[in-house]
Amino acid sequence: MYIEQLLLKNYRNYTELEAHFENKVNVILGENAQGKTNVMESIYVLAMAKSHRTSNDKELISWDKEYAKIEGRIKKNHGSVPLQLIISKKGKKAKFNHIEQQKLSQYVGNMNVVMFAPEDLNLVKGSPQVRRRFIDMEIGQVSPIYLHDMGRFQKILQQRNHYLKLLQTKKQTDMTMLDILTEQFMTLASKIVHKRFGFIQLLEKWAIPIHEGISRGLETLKLEYKPSVDVSEHLDLSKMLEVYEQKYFKVKNKEIERGITLFGPHRDDLLFIVNDRDVQTFGSQGQQRTTALSVKLAEIELIRSEIGEYPILLLDDVLSELDDYRQSHLLNTIQGKVQTFVTTTSVDGIDHQTLKEAAAFKVEAGKMNRIQ
Ligand SMILES: Nc1ncnc2c1ncn2[C@@H]1O[C@H](COP(=O)(O)OP(=O)(O)OP(=O)(O)O)[C@@H](O)[C@H]1O
Ligand SMILES: [Mg+2]
Repeated sequence: MYIEQLLLKNYRNYTELEAHFENKVNVILGENAQGKTNVMESIYVLAMAKSHRTSNDKELISWDKEYAKIEGRIKKNHGSVPLQLIISKKGKKAKFNHIEQQKLSQYVGNMNVVMFAPEDLNLVKGSPQVRRRFIDMEIGQVSPIYLHDMGRFQKILQQRNHYLKLLQTKKQTDMTMLDILTEQFMTLASKIVHKRFGFIQLLEKWAIPIHEGISRGLETLKLEYKPSVDVSEHLDLSKMLEVYEQKYFKVKNKEIERGITLFGPHRDDLLFIVNDRDVQTFGSQGQQRTTALSVKLAEIELIRSEIGEYPILLLDDVLSELDDYRQSHLLNTIQGKVQTFVTTTSVDGIDHQTLKEAAAFKVEAGKMNRIQ
């Protein structure tokens, strides 16, 4: 799929923008602080209804304005579809094919993107929270049910934590209510973790050969989902639920004592293993970068295998960070098959056929014009 047209109104430093894109590499050039990342972010937000940079949607609205609007026309295998997202101080409204979607979980997934930005190094280096967010966003793109379950899970988790606080402070003593909340909590937890295991397995399958290519055959990558409870990918849903039940039985008193939920997918992690060592702890900066890049490129293939078309690739400020070999490896992988947006302050030193054939845009103070 590719984005043919993008319209912005009151989006960050863009008062008004209309841009047309082709299904190829689009280079976005500009000095610092002119609005390159803002354009990339707007495409990401149009797809995911969430920014990759902030969880505060209000930041996306131009400073002195009431609302921001992003519109796009996406060309897919079976035709062209319009998407629209309005962000106001009250919340978000999303339209797919001119029809307002009651739930954002129904809207997300109509357009697929993969973003690779410098902060994605945090995927490997950062906290488990970063990795869980990555897993959730990416499964969400290909599975609306997962997004829906995740939303319900967050609610139940909050309720359960709230109830555990009441038990802790003895404002409540009724244990039946805790059992009921826990039953719902564990049912959703098993579903979520089951799905995550499957996703990680698939992602690993795509990431292994890509990583091998980028590291010139010198390194092997493994992905390992690390649950906070002793479940494994070999268990089916009902067996998983049993493991959760046993865990609940064990930690119940401690949970009441502490007033908080101590097990579940919100405490799980993902490990990246390179040549049998955890790359978060033992990897060099370069190995961590290669790992993050392999995982992102694997995601492109995973999305294609799941939905039957390539997603749109957004490369913000990353090309110049890669050495020549990784740069050309990346550009060779996407060449001719993935609509790609690349931002950079200068194309000097990036010598690749793909960029010579690319469309180029210049961004200056919240305006973007095609220059090639
Ligand atoms: N809500 C907002 N309203 C108006 N302007 C904003 C808003 N949020 C951010 N900006 C401005 O947008 C400008 C451009 O930001 P952006 O991150 O897109 O720059 P960039 O071109 O990617 O720069 P760099 O090369 O440094 O990454 C910044 O100067 C910032 O002050
Ligand atoms: Mg930027």
